[in-house]
Amino acid sequence: MAKHDLDPNYLDPNYEPVVNRSGNHPFHEVLAARLQRRSVMKGTVGAALASLMGVTLVGCSSDDDDDAADSADSSGGSASAATELGFKAIPVSTANQVVVPEGYSAVPFLPWGTPITGAYPEFQADASNTGAEQEQQVGMHHDGLHFFPIDQKAGGNSSTEGLLVMNHEYINQDALHPNGATAAADNLGVRPEDEVRKEIAAHGVSVVHIKQDSNGTWDLVFGSPFNRRITGGTEMDIRGPLRGYCKLVTRFSPSATETRGTLNNCSMGPTPWGTYLAAEENWHGYFANSEVNPPREQTRHGVGSSSRYDWELAAGGADAYVRFDVTPGLGDPDTDYRNEANTYGYMVEIDPFTPEAKPQKRTALGRFGHEGVIFAPAVEGKPVVCYSGDDSRFEYIYKFVSSQPYSAATAGGYLLDEGTLYVARFNDDGTGEWLSLSLEDDDFAAKVTAANGSMVGDINFTGFADQADVLLNTRLAADIAGATPMDRPEWGAVDPNTGEVYFTLTNNSQRTEGQTDAANPIAENRTGHIIRWSEAGGDHAATSFDWDIFVFAGEQGTETVVDGEAVVTLDDDNIFNSPDGLWFDYNGRLWIQTDGSDAAPYQNNMMLAANPVTREIKRFFVGPVGCEVTGVVTTPDVKTMFVNIQHPEVDWPFGTEGDHPRDATVIVTRDDGGVVGA
Ligand code: FEO
Ligand code: CA
Ligand code: CA
Repeated sequence: MAKHDLDPNYLDPNYEPVVNRSGNHPFHEVLAARLQRRSVMKGTVGAALASLMGVTLVGCSSDDDDDAADSADSSGGSASAATELGFKAIPVSTANQVVVPEGYSAVPFLPWGTPITGAYPEFQADASNTGAEQEQQVGMHHDGLHFFPIDQKAGGNSSTEGLLVMNHEYINQDALHPNGATAAADNLGVRPEDEVRKEIAAHGVSVVHIKQDSNGTWDLVFGSPFNRRITGGTEMDIRGPLRGYCKLVTRFSPSATETRGTLNNCSMGPTPWGTYLAAEENWHGYFANSEVNPPREQTRHGVGSSSRYDWELAAGGADAYVRFDVTPGLGDPDTDYRNEANTYGYMVEIDPFTPEAKPQKRTALGRFGHEGVIFAPAVEGKPVVCYSGDDSRFEYIYKFVSSQPYSAATAGGYLLDEGTLYVARFNDDGTGEWLSLSLEDDDFAAKVTAANGSMVGDINFTGFADQADVLLNTRLAADIAGATPMDRPEWGAVDPNTGEVYFTLTNNSQRTEGQTDAANPIAENRTGHIIRWSEAGGDHAATSFDWDIFVFAGEQGTETVVDGEAVVTLDDDNIFNSPDGLWFDYNGRLWIQTDGSDAAPYQNNMMLAANPVTREIKRFFVGPVGCEVTGVVTTPDVKTMFVNIQHPEVDWPFGTEGDHPRDATVIVTRDDGGVVGA
C-alpha cells in the first residue's frame, strides 16, 4: 500500500498544513473605518454575512468599471463589447469526458507518457515504462501552461506553431507504476530505486514544440531540438540574494550556487522577455527531517518528519535520493543535505528557446509556497513588476518590483535578481498597502527590531542576519510586517484593458468567525472568492491600492452585493466552487478554473468565462470525473485554447490497462474557426 493511502492528508490534493500561527489580524484594528460601499456575499450563508461588520469598498467597484469602459471606448473599442461572452453556457456535468458549448470541439493532446524527446520511448498502457523512459516522456499531473509563438524572439506572434510549456505538479503514485507504488514499509525499509527515479521524472516541466497542419490539427514536432524535459532531478542555478548563502550549502553544491530539480510546479508565468517561470508550491512535502527541533526555515513551511513519497529511502542510497532527508549529520553542512529544502520554494526561470540553458531559481521573488506568478505589462524605462500568491491557508500575496528598469532591447532574467519584495495588507476600508520586506525599509526594520526576542506564531524570533535570511524566511518576514492572511491565494491575472489585478482565493474551511476580515469575510469559507485591486495611479510599482471582491463562488442564489445591489447572482449557468486557475486572454475575457468539491450541485470541476466589465459569468467547459481543471492559454489569435486536465479519477478517452488514468491537455476550438469565447 502506498504511503499516501495511509495518511488521509495525502489523499487530499489540496493538502496544505496550516503553518501560519502568527495571528495577524490587522483588519480588526481598522474596523471602525467609515463605510461607504459594501461588497458582501448573500445566499446560503447570507445571514451570517449580513451580520458581518461593514466591508468598505471604494476601489475597483462599479464606478471604476464605468471608467474602464469609457477609457476603452475613447481608445477606439468598448472593453465591454470586446469581452462579451458569445457562447451558450453549458450545464454542470458528471460525464467522464470533457464538455464544451455548442459549436466548439475539444480534443485531448499530449497525455502523460507521450514521448517527446531522446529515443521517443512509446507509452505503455500498463504503465510499465521505466524511469529512464519517463525522463523522455510528458510528465504527470499537468498544471499551468503557456504557448510561446515560435517566432516570438523575432517579434512575431504565430498562432500555428509554438512551444507549449507546461508544469507537472505532482503524481498519482499508484497510477504511475503497473501495480501501484511499493511502500518502504513493505519492502525492507526501502523503495525500489527505479520507482523513485520514475516518480521524480514524472514531476517538473515539459517543453513541447507543436505545430498545426493545413487541416488545423495540432501535433508535436518530432525531433525538434526544443522538445525537452525538466524534472525533479535537473541541475539548476541559484540566482539572486540567496546565491552563495551559507544556508544553501549542500554536499552537491558547497558553494551554494546550484541545486537539483524543481517540484510541485503548480502555476507559472511567462516573462516579458519570452521565458517561463515555474512555481514551486507544496515542495515541503518532499523532504523529511527527524530532528526534534527543526529550523524555522523548515517549520514555517511545513517540512515534517516524513516525506510524501519516501524518495530519501530509495534502495542503493544514491546521492540523488538521500538528499530528500534533510536531517543534519555530524559534519559540516557541505557533507550532508540539511540545507536541501532551502534550495526549494522559488520561482524557476526556464528559457524554452534555449534548450541548453540551465533553469535558474530566482530567489529575490521570495521563498514560500508559490502558486504561480503574473507579470504586469512591461513598460519601457519602468521597473518590472510581478505578483505571486502563497497557496496555504492564512498565507499571503506578494509583489516583486525590480530595481532596474525594463528595456525591451536588453531585458532578461537578471531583472529578477535585484529588487524589493512586498507583501499585501488589505485594509477593511477598501484600501490596501504593499509592505516592504527589505531591511533597508525603515518601517520593516523597526518591526523586525521590535519582534526580536518575542514569539512570532510558534517561532521564537531571534532576528534576521541579513536580507538573504529575510528571503529564506519570507513567510516569517511577512508575519512580522503585518500582512493579511488570505483564504489560500491561488492564481493571479492582470486585466489587459484596465491593469486591474485579480486573484483567486480558493477556500479556507479553517477560518473562524473571529478571523474574518473584509477581504476574507466568510467563516469556514468552503467555496472561495475572487478579489481584485487597482494600483494607485495605475502604477504597478505603487505601494498602495484599492480593492474589491469581484465575485463570491457558491451555489445557486449566491449574491455578490456592492452598495446594496446584487452585481452577481449565481444560477445554473455559473455556479462554481473553489476558483483556482485564472487567466485573462488577449482580448480581456477572464477564464476561471475550479479545483473544488465535485459533488452536487457543482459536479465535475470546470472552467467558466467572465466579462470583467459586467461581471457576467458563464460555464464554458466541464472536465471528466474526479479531475481538477487547471492551466489555460490560447494562441495569440485566441482561436486555439489549451486547457489542462489534472488527476482524472478514471481513465477517460485513452484506453489504458487497469487503473492508470492519464492527465492531458485539451485543445478547444470553435467549429467555425472563430475566437474562443466570443
Ligand atoms: Fe497547486 Fe494551489 O494548487
Ligand atoms: Ca492550483
Ligand atoms: Ca487548488
